[in-house]
Amino acid sequence: MPGINGITTPLKLIFFLCLNFATTLTAGDDHQFIYSGFAGSDIIVNGLAEVTPNGLLHLTNGTAQLKGHAFHPTPLNFHEPLNGTVQSFSAAFVFAIRSIAPGVSAHGLTFFISPTKNMSSAFSNQFLGLLSKQKNGNSSNHIFAVELDTVLSSDMLDVDDNHVGIDINDLRSVKSHYAGYYDDMSGNFHNLTLASFEAMQVWVDYDGGRKQISVTLAPLQMAKPMKPLLSINYDLSRVLKDKSYVGFSASTGILDSHHYVLGWSFGLNKPAPVINISKLPKLPRIGPKPRSKLLEIILPVASSTFILALVTVIFLVIRRKIRYAELREDWEVEFGPHRFSYKDLFHATEGFKNKHLLGIGGFGRVYKGVLRKSKSEVAVKRVSHESRQGMKEFIAEVVSMGRLRHKNIVQLLGYCRRKGELLLVYDYMPNGSLDKYLHGNTIQTLDWAQRFRIIQGVASGLLYLHEDWEQVVIHRDIKASNVLLDGEMNGRLGDFGLARLYDHGTDPQTTHVVGTMGYIAPELTRMGRASTLTDVFAFGVFLLEVTCGRRPITQQDGQDVPFMLVDWVLEHWQKGSLPNVVDTRLLNNYNVDEACLALKLGLLCSHPLPNARPNMRQVVQYLDGNAIFPEQILTEITRNGGVEMGANYVVSPSPPSSTSFGTITVDLSGGR
Ligand SMILES: *[C@@H]1O[C@H](CO)[C@@H](O)[C@H](O)[C@H]1NC(C)=O
Ligand SMILES: *[C@@H]1O[C@H](CO)[C@@H](O)[C@H](O)[C@H]1NC(C)=O
Ligand SMILES: *[C@@H]1O[C@H](CO)[C@@H](O)[C@H](O)[C@H]1NC(C)=O
Ligand SMILES: *[C@@H]1O[C@H](CO)[C@@H](O)[C@H](O)[C@H]1NC(C)=O
Ligand SMILES: *[C@@H]1O[C@H](CO)[C@@H](O)[C@H](O)[C@H]1NC(C)=O
Ligand SMILES: *[C@@H]1O[C@H](CO)[C@@H](O)[C@H](O)[C@H]1NC(C)=O
Repeated sequence: MPGINGITTPLKLIFFLCLNFATTLTAGDDHQFIYSGFAGSDIIVNGLAEVTPNGLLHLTNGTAQLKGHAFHPTPLNFHEPLNGTVQSFSAAFVFAIRSIAPGVSAHGLTFFISPTKNMSSAFSNQFLGLLSKQKNGNSSNHIFAVELDTVLSSDMLDVDDNHVGIDINDLRSVKSHYAGYYDDMSGNFHNLTLASFEAMQVWVDYDGGRKQISVTLAPLQMAKPMKPLLSINYDLSRVLKDKSYVGFSASTGILDSHHYVLGWSFGLNKPAPVINISKLPKLPRIGPKPRSKLLEIILPVASSTFILALVTVIFLVIRRKIRYAELREDWEVEFGPHRFSYKDLFHATEGFKNKHLLGIGGFGRVYKGVLRKSKSEVAVKRVSHESRQGMKEFIAEVVSMGRLRHKNIVQLLGYCRRKGELLLVYDYMPNGSLDKYLHGNTIQTLDWAQRFRIIQGVASGLLYLHEDWEQVVIHRDIKASNVLLDGEMNGRLGDFGLARLYDHGTDPQTTHVVGTMGYIAPELTRMGRASTLTDVFAFGVFLLEVTCGRRPITQQDGQDVPFMLVDWVLEHWQKGSLPNVVDTRLLNNYNVDEACLALKLGLLCSHPLPNARPNMRQVVQYLDGNAIFPEQILTEITRNGGVEMGANYVVSPSPPSSTSFGTITVDLSGGR
């Protein structure tokens, strides 16, 4: 049932109460009444007729070959009390006819004045629910009606299937005209289609003095046209009984048709009250496609918005999947706790933004990040690595290295793997790497005490890796840029073992030499085997670098042979002028004994013959003053130590085999 079921109950109640009030107020006066919709009114209905919840008078509901009626409940006295003539009256009503198609409908409706409410004998179809075949045309009916007929019935002498007629006791109209109206301005006639489901208004006027009946039709929004559609002179005094009912009848034929009355007013001896169109109930929407302009605009917009949203969501999901994609393999399950999700690292570094870039090293870029959950500061190193070879061993090592705990070692927190990429997560070192302080131009330099403490710290960290942990860890890439400074300017070894990633699983014949030029022990280039003693070699070079404030190898302007730090220090040691090599930025403000010890120890450690080098435990003892530095040994090995002394003291910068240097981190610039 069409209606205002969408309206909430309290609203509906108010709506009905208002209408009820309006109707009873006017219906109380028998000479004038108005129905602005019929909800809650006391209108009488029978047959198919009913009042819909939103107040439409629904005369026929589509059921075929039936009829419906509606009456104003009280009869009116049409006769002049003194001489019995019928008084003037006027009626106005708004109707609509809905059918299977515009203009194709059955059968029609009438507005009538009748002496009785008992119309049970009336027929449907062409009799419009007004009269029966037997009674049609009998003057004892005392019926006046205006028919709105949508079927051409030849037995009723109809002009067409869309006409308005004036009926006196007979459905064969006294006068009829096809539906339409005369335009006030031009006087032209405009056709209207009754069964168009457009609401239209009808005015029926009887002038008791001039005995004139006129009927006017117009579209809903239009004011009553001046020229009526139908007008005849007819004395209704001979027709109407004094006490008569006013109402509507409608009938259906074989077609599914609905007849609606939206509003109705009547005046006896008075004009009919003007129907306020905005107060009328709304007709139900029909058809599969709502003809609402608003919906026609909103629907495409809404659906395209929906599609756009869907596409966006899919895009985001896919992008998220790609952005946060990781590599995860079965064997990693056991390392689970050390595994970081890429998403966490991505967010920690705000998508690896350049402003969080701490540096670019031999193995990759390092970013500063803040982990969301723990709010702890970390350094994330992205190492590009295509091969999966040795990855398992390396991860195992990374994880075991995660268990390394020493105050001079940068704590490795965990890792993450992606396609072609490995991410290592370390504690964040606020003071950055040592080489900035040694070789940078702008930053403050370190005083001697700080330098010596860093040297001792690094030695202690390296000793821990070599001897004090459950297995021997070879750092493989000791250099100033791999020494990081924590908040208290303690030196901490970072990046340990990373170099190993690059020589795992390779052919021993062509073992890649990994390390940094100037720190690579000669036997490493020859044999390709890293050992604790190759670490000691690099540590020796590191000692000299920190004490002298110079890089191990420097390409000098206009000279073919690069400057070799070890050779230079050795030369001065042999000349007995060792203090001359100490970093001039210290402005002679340093402990001479400590500096000389560092230099001599540096020479001893970076001796080309591995067996000549001390181990880290000895190194720590010398540095801490717990053992006397073996001056004698240094003197001997530098004098008699074999052919490699002098210019060949460190590895030549020109590689013995170009292939074996394929992955060397040539770090002459020292940048990290
Ligand atoms: C029309 O009304 C009649 C009588 O109230 C009812 O029997 C019939 O089912 C209704 N038809 C429709 C289509 O609602
Ligand atoms: C009947 O009475 C009314 C009012 O009293 C008057 O206007 C009308 O002319 C009378 N009609 C006849 C036929 O006398
Ligand atoms: C209505 O009229 C019919 C005959 O036309 C009759 O049989 C019936 O009893 C009447 N009903 C009422 C309520 O008067
Ligand atoms: C008209 O109706 C009356 C009463 O029902 C009846 O007596 C009369 O015969 C009818 N007239 C005709 C011509 O059918
Ligand atoms: C109006 O309707 C009548 C009768 O159906 C028809 O003859 C006439 O041509 C129509 N006028 C227009 C303008 O359609
Ligand atoms: C018709 O009704 C509306 C609200 O129901 C009201 O605002 C408007 O003034 C009325 N128009 C007339 C002519 O009474």
